[in-house]
Amino acid sequence: MHPFDSTRISLAHGAGSIPAVGFGTLIPNAVAAKQAVKVALEVGFRHIDGAEVYRNEDVVGEAMHEAFEAGTVKREEIFVTTKLWNNNHRPDRVKLAFEASLRRLQLDYLDCYLVHTPFAFQAGDEHYPMNERDEPIYDKDVTLAETWQAMERLVDEGKCKFIGLSDVTLDKVKEIVAIARIQPAVVQVESHPYLPEQELLDFCQQHGIVLLAYAPLGHGMEPRITNDPVIKAIAQRVGKTPAQVALAWAVQRGTAFLTTSTNPVHIRENFDISPLPEDAMTEIQHGITTNLRLNAVVETGMPGFVPRNP
Ligand SMILES: NC(=O)c1ccc[n+]([C@@H]2O[C@H](COP(=O)([O-])OP(=O)(O)OC[C@H]3O[C@@H](n4cnc5c(N)ncnc54)[C@H](OP(=O)(O)O)[C@@H]3O)[C@@H](O)[C@H]2O)c1
Repeated sequence: MHPFDSTRISLAHGAGSIPAVGFGTLIPNAVAAKQAVKVALEVGFRHIDGAEVYRNEDVVGEAMHEAFEAGTVKREEIFVTTKLWNNNHRPDRVKLAFEASLRRLQLDYLDCYLVHTPFAFQAGDEHYPMNERDEPIYDKDVTLAETWQAMERLVDEGKCKFIGLSDVTLDKVKEIVAIARIQPAVVQVESHPYLPEQELLDFCQQHGIVLLAYAPLGHGMEPRITNDPVIKAIAQRVGKTPAQVALAWAVQRGTAFLTTSTNPVHIRENFDISPLPEDAMTEIQHGITTNLRLNAVVETGMPGFVPRNP
């Protein structure tokens, strides 16, 4: 069986494709983020995922630019995603935010632009406008549908190939699918063996939308997916690491994923994944009962991995 490193999933009913194996840039230290992106590209990752709110698009751009210059990879060989932050949901701000991201990334087009969360925050320069009770200040004067129409115009203008949503519930995806002129190509949500999001995945697959799983290793948090007895037993049986089993499961069930590491050994390991036997897929589906959402962003629009008890 072929390894998964070159697997691509069709987007927008064949208008393009996305690598199943992707690398995320949610790495707070800028030096570490730049180095990690360079290693990821050298190892073979061909999807790089960023966001305005990670505040490091500039170093991600430098890393990609240096990889282009060094001949490691060509621009057209990589799939680059970034995201519109909550303070830029008003239609007149969407294009400006998009162009600022492009500039920081040193690119002249994006493969995919996502609405980072469905929550509109007060428009302005503050990423996290907060009230006196330390709650986010929401913008009641813009709907997600209006933001989506501004995203569609970016595709019309040819600077962005695909658009999508992130941190959405199934209901929100349905809401946008119902009104979209250009359908979401990608829905990026937290998903791992402790949060399969099967209903959302089924809906996405029925509508030709790729579910892009973030935190496929549970963000390295407790309870660690890489310590799960079912995953560990499969890893031992197939001669792979627990991380490789969790990532292979993600691809084999039809999702794309984004993993992150600053450790070159882990970066290499996470790219070197191959299919699991069918019985291993069934064991993960039925043998794991832990159900855990780690990132609370879907509730308020405020990102953050919160330690939780199973
Ligand atoms: N849309 C959203 O709201 C949203 C939210 C969160 C994340 N994301 C995206 O998704 C990306 C991935 O999310 P994530 O960082 O939570 O992914 P993840 O891969 O589940 O977790 C990364 C953590 O796992 C550890 N790790 C990585 N490879 C490992 C391995 N082979 N063995 C053991 N531990 C390993 C890393 O530590 P080491 O560095 O020590 O390897 C790191 O602590 C982000 O960078 C971002 O692009 C999007």
